[in-house]
Amino acid sequence: MDHGNNRDNAEQSLQVTRLLTRKHALNQSRLEARQERTDAAPGEVLLKLDRFALTTNNVTYAAFGDAMHYWQFFPTGQEEWGHMPVWGFADVVDSGVPGVAPGERFYGYFPIASHLRMQPERVTARGFYDGSEHRKTLTSAYNQYTRVSNDAAYASALENYQMLYRPLFITSFMLADFLEDNRFFGASRLVVSSASSKTAYGTAFCLRDIPGVSLAAVTSERNRAFVQGLGCYREVVTYDTLETLATGEPTLYVDFSGDEALRARVHHHFGSALVYDCFAGSAQNTGFLRDTGLPGPRPEFYFAPVQIRKRNADWGPEGVNQRFNAAQRAFIDYVKAPANGWLTLIEEQGFGAAQERIASLVAGASEPKAGYVVRLP
Ligand SMILES: NC(=O)c1ccc[n+]([C@@H]2O[C@H](COP(=O)([O-])OP(=O)(O)OC[C@H]3O[C@@H](n4cnc5c(N)ncnc54)[C@H](OP(=O)(O)O)[C@@H]3O)[C@@H](O)[C@H]2O)c1
Repeated sequence: MDHGNNRDNAEQSLQVTRLLTRKHALNQSRLEARQERTDAAPGEVLLKLDRFALTTNNVTYAAFGDAMHYWQFFPTGQEEWGHMPVWGFADVVDSGVPGVAPGERFYGYFPIASHLRMQPERVTARGFYDGSEHRKTLTSAYNQYTRVSNDAAYASALENYQMLYRPLFITSFMLADFLEDNRFFGASRLVVSSASSKTAYGTAFCLRDIPGVSLAAVTSERNRAFVQGLGCYREVVTYDTLETLATGEPTLYVDFSGDEALRARVHHHFGSALVYDCFAGSAQNTGFLRDTGLPGPRPEFYFAPVQIRKRNADWGPEGVNQRFNAAQRAFIDYVKAPANGWLTLIEEQGFGAAQERIASLVAGASEPKAGYVVRLP
């Protein structure tokens, strides 16, 4: 496309649809459509979102949208409404940036919208970073877009698995590594809450062959059978029966639920056997980690980028990539095999389906075995 004087004449005939989420009632959303230019300005790329995944993690981005700046990645200009971030694949429609061509496909962090305009910088064979002014101060991992044609971990047949698991499995992999790196803080047993979540069982998968530690799952009654069927936790209890877990061995709590009352019960039940409390997720809570004066170790917030930085220094970025890609490939190969019974992919179409799916995730009504992905028209 011509990026010279003719730009001013570009047709305003591109319909851009955006799904907006009510910031303080995450089950509520609305669609907004507007006409935009069909071309990209110099220095800009215009991408069309093709498919994305939805899990509880996306709801957590929204729940902590203000506090952790997740709403700032894709501003809506409307105080009450935010753009929930998702991971997915998008195709370049038009480009005003050398090195990024129309038709190319990228993996990354997107708003739930038909299109997104970005201002690529640090363009390399691997991809680019969105250098838009409002994103400059935000965590750079989310500003990075990967060119699928040059991604060693990419396979077109695995796109649904990649967008569903990659953002979670990076945490699973790095959390497992962080715990092992610290010799489990002396624990021989890990107690994992919201054990049915993909991030939790991804962590369990990474730890499956580590000698000297066993895993106990804590989950809801409705998800107990699924968690038992996973086979990666030695013990499975429900939230009601947490106190049936024995207290005789050094225990580490890996918390994906964020549930404050549950955390208090864990501390009181395990008492001096509790050696470390790792706060890794908030599947059931939108509150912050507070010091509530619990006995035992202070809950420690886990943030994957910290361990990634450490391993980049230890192994080099290429070493980290290679290890991560190999682990993720083994994990995806395992979950996608129907015989293992870990995952049923559910591919839905369009913004309306996304709205319903988000409301159901917010209500905690998702099926743990389901992997929800949405294709846009
Ligand atoms: N620290 C990090 O860097 C990082 C990175 C990725 C993900 N995470 C966090 O890990 C958590 C799990 O995310 P995911 O995407 O893996 O989840 P997921 O696969 O969608 O799993 C959802 C599970 O969470 C529990 N749950 C979800 N919503 C609930 C609700 N409204 N009420 C009660 N229970 C609910 C249920 O587990 P049970 O029945 O077993 O409780 C459910 O099976 C999220 O909080 C996410 O933010 C953290």
